[in-house]
Amino acid sequence: MAKSKTQSNVLPMSEVFHPGIETYKQVYNESLEKPDAFWEKQAQVLDWFQKWDKVLDESEAPFYKWFPNGKINASYNALDRHVNRNRRNKAAFIWISENDEEKIVTYDGLYLRVNNFAKSLKDLGIKKGDRIIIYLPMILEAPVAMLAAARIGAVFSFVFAGFGAGALAERMNDSKAKLVITADGFQRGGKMVKLKDIVDEALVQVSSVESVVVVRRGRNDIQMQEGRDIWWHDIVSRKQIYVEPEWMDANDPLYILYTSGTTGKPKGAVHGNGGYSVWVANTMKWAFNPQEDDRWWCAADIGWVTGHSYIVFAPLFLGLTSIMYEGAITYPGPDRMWELIERYRVNLLYTSPTAIRTLMRYGEKYPEMHDLSSLRVLGTVGEPINPAAWKWYYDIIGKSNSPIIDTYWQTETGGFMIAPPLGLGLPPLKPGSGTFPMPGVDPVILDENGIEVAPGEKGFIAYKRPWPGMFMTLNNDPERFKRTYFEKFNGMYYCGDYAIKDNDGYFWLLGRADEVLNISGHRLGTIEIEDALIASHEVAEAAVFGRPDKVKGEVIVAFIVVKDQYEQDGEIVGKLRKKIRADLGPIYVPEEIHVVKGLPKTRSGKIMRRVVKAVALNEVPGDISTLENSASVEEIKDAIEGFRREASN
Ligand code: PRX
Repeated sequence: MAKSKTQSNVLPMSEVFHPGIETYKQVYNESLEKPDAFWEKQAQVLDWFQKWDKVLDESEAPFYKWFPNGKINASYNALDRHVNRNRRNKAAFIWISENDEEKIVTYDGLYLRVNNFAKSLKDLGIKKGDRIIIYLPMILEAPVAMLAAARIGAVFSFVFAGFGAGALAERMNDSKAKLVITADGFQRGGKMVKLKDIVDEALVQVSSVESVVVVRRGRNDIQMQEGRDIWWHDIVSRKQIYVEPEWMDANDPLYILYTSGTTGKPKGAVHGNGGYSVWVANTMKWAFNPQEDDRWWCAADIGWVTGHSYIVFAPLFLGLTSIMYEGAITYPGPDRMWELIERYRVNLLYTSPTAIRTLMRYGEKYPEMHDLSSLRVLGTVGEPINPAAWKWYYDIIGKSNSPIIDTYWQTETGGFMIAPPLGLGLPPLKPGSGTFPMPGVDPVILDENGIEVAPGEKGFIAYKRPWPGMFMTLNNDPERFKRTYFEKFNGMYYCGDYAIKDNDGYFWLLGRADEVLNISGHRLGTIEIEDALIASHEVAEAAVFGRPDKVKGEVIVAFIVVKDQYEQDGEIVGKLRKKIRADLGPIYVPEEIHVVKGLPKTRSGKIMRRVVKAVALNEVPGDISTLENSASVEEIKDAIEGFRREASN
């Protein structure tokens, strides 16, 4: 078989990737020693309408202002400048659905769609600064809606299409959204998800929303409410329309993305227009070294930060071609991902450790059915990658020719913080380590008292200085922003993770140091699940925690106390599962729900989740001297033992 052009480009790693980190070290040092000059230069990766007054204004720290008074527009940078230069006919997205429908949209095609939808938004009365919710599956209308909002200066908040009505309503209310963009429904793993029904249910609890724009996707039956609901295709034309991009201040918000914390409701991380855009474009170049003709596949969902930054903004800013896949990676078969890589000759693949572990379980036979030789770089994100999965990805998928770019970052950080800097020179990789910080990132590992720990010791990772991609605040809650992230370590950004810096200066990210869960790379709050359980009238008390799992990283376990009158209800667990699915979404449904008579509590009545978890996982529960009801510990043990016995039968 003749080798295709893409295939013949694949060279042994040493020839492609400038091994050695001299350039990286030089760039990194420059970024810390002369940050103003450094960022002045890096900001040129984008087009600005007006230059900033200074690079960084720290006068109101931790509310840092990058590039203040600089004027920019993300939609202009994603589209107009490529269309105006020489990428008009280049594919921006190659979109494929679960059932193999395919759409290729060029930069010019995307520009046309975005301008048209921007006009529709304006016609619906949406202005600069208004908030809109996007609740869409992985269809092209999702990036179109995001970019159209960005074009007119509306602030969008994307809600992952796997969230339930309660979670959606909460985000609508917190963001005070005027408009919602959704679809009738979509297929996932062969099943229909009725998105519009969920929106209708959520809207019962919301007063700010005036209009709902509905994309026809699932063709399932839906209710359209007169005066509120409008079909996308009825308001969007395909004419050559031009909507002037708003000149956004670098520190005007671009989007709000909700993420889970340790307490209370999800937090709305607010990202700005300027610093964020500079950050995602540069970090993508530094970590992945994408080339003009590459095909990039970020297999995350657009509703999470990975999709925002590395399906939509960074690749479009850099003028790349992305694969966008609507569907499950195991549907219709376990070789789906490999089949698509072969068919579209994907060069750069970016996915999660859970996806790798899931596909690994099916064995080598599936990747071996396909020609994966187009692959040149393999990325991961969202959770620690265990060395076995790393090696499988490297050996079986990359044929030992593609570096693994393990990118560590968060919703709040906007883009990569620690990742092998392939674009600046590849350091020798250590399976499971994200290697080194991106330029401008200055991490330290601290103990509980804020003292730096010795190399090789585990501690909390914190950052000594701000970086352009960092979130600007929490929506409606600047105090919580300060308190949650900047108080623990005296003004440094504390992100809630444990890490180790080894003797060679490599960073090893070990996962959450708090009670936030990481299920298949999805960040969920224990408190949200506990709140949903307690909100159901049958449940008196609940404690939720994560149990380590070989594939998903963690799975959710709940212990509940049922109110006396419902004790005999044999259906209770099934009912609660259903309720959580509807309210929060399927990813929140606990794998195990155990009903007990009491939960361990302190004398002041606080449930000791830490103790529940330790006992259930057969670990040492630590200090339980303040425990009020020690009998509950035995009960937890019994419940778990009974469950394990049943599971093994
Ligand atoms: O615990 C870290 C883990 O995911 C958390 C951030 O979740 P989220 O804001 O939803 O963003 C996920 C996508 C960027 C972090 O606090 N995490 C993310 N990437 C890694 C990771 N843990 C270890 N290694 C990673 N590469």
